[in-house]
Amino acid sequence: MAAFTELVFSGVQPTGNLHLGNYLGAVKRFVEMQDRDAQCLYCVVDLHAITVWQDPEALRGQIREVTAAFLAAGIDPKRSIVFNQSQVPQHAELAWVFNCVARLGWLNRMTQFKEKAGKDRENASIGLYDYPVLMAADILAYRATHVPVGEDQKQHLELTRDIAQKFNTDFSGSITAHGHGDAFFPITEPLIGGPAARVMSLRDGTKKMSKSDPSDNARINLTDDADAIAQKIRRAKTDPEPLPSEVAGLKERPEADNLVGIYAALAGITREDVLRDFGGAQFSTFKPALADLAVTSLAPIAGEMRRLTADPGHIDAVLADGGARAETIAAQTLDAVKDIVGFVRRGPSLQAVR
Ligand code: TRP
Repeated sequence: MAAFTELVFSGVQPTGNLHLGNYLGAVKRFVEMQDRDAQCLYCVVDLHAITVWQDPEALRGQIREVTAAFLAAGIDPKRSIVFNQSQVPQHAELAWVFNCVARLGWLNRMTQFKEKAGKDRENASIGLYDYPVLMAADILAYRATHVPVGEDQKQHLELTRDIAQKFNTDFSGSITAHGHGDAFFPITEPLIGGPAARVMSLRDGTKKMSKSDPSDNARINLTDDADAIAQKIRRAKTDPEPLPSEVAGLKERPEADNLVGIYAALAGITREDVLRDFGGAQFSTFKPALADLAVTSLAPIAGEMRRLTADPGHIDAVLADGGARAETIAAQTLDAVKDIVGFVRRGPSLQAVR
């Protein structure tokens, strides 16, 4: 592997219905990260998906669909490493070690578990509870320095940093003795933000755009064709006022704010830039402009996804290649972790230099 200054890792769950929120909040940013001086790894996190029930055949299709979306959006599987998590056993292996580093009290504070488990917490899977520890293992198996994620993953990234820190402290003597200096795991930086860190529902600007919204008009699916995209934007909820000329004027106007944010993110400009052009305009002017922009940016991706999903053999080959490349990096981390923790392992063991 060439020497890069940064290692970028991120993951997307293969749980179906990828939409504009996933694209602007994650995939589009993954594409842009490829231009940094960084090795990028993009992972379809199938181990995370099964923390809640998944129909096996549907899951297999969804893993291929997310991979197709990555490729269709412009992730280059030669430059970046594209793979699915279950092909690299080191994720689960490192998660076990981290299970013994993370504290119950830390996990008990995770708000996403509380939301996802709901009232029937006793009936949630142990995997759902342990989800953030596996996520820390995903990131730290590659000793990733940067992780682009949505706002909702901030707490999980903090847990990742806490686990890295505690591992580095608990094993500091052994880390030094094995020649890794005074820290083995990096304290990973989350990269949160951009104009569309949170894309909201087209029917209700106070709710996140979601794959599970009962109204299909609330979201733009990455598989929607040009007509569907344009129609959903035309029907998007708005208020009666024209657009303001300053960003401050979007406060208390969630639907207007959302559409301006989507425009900015698609065009790669700021909300300020959008309002410089559209301040004072009615939605009857702004919506067609947004629809045009959305169609030109998204319809080709949908088309390319259809082409790619028609050839699952090609997608599986991309994942196999990515999985093998990912494993070479993760295996090095796990060898070192085993030495640091004090396990005896097969292969040329690096004895402590002390
Ligand atoms: N939990 C993330 C989400 O739902 C997905 C994920 C799993 C992830 N492992 C990761 C994201 C590691 C970033 C890094 O969005």
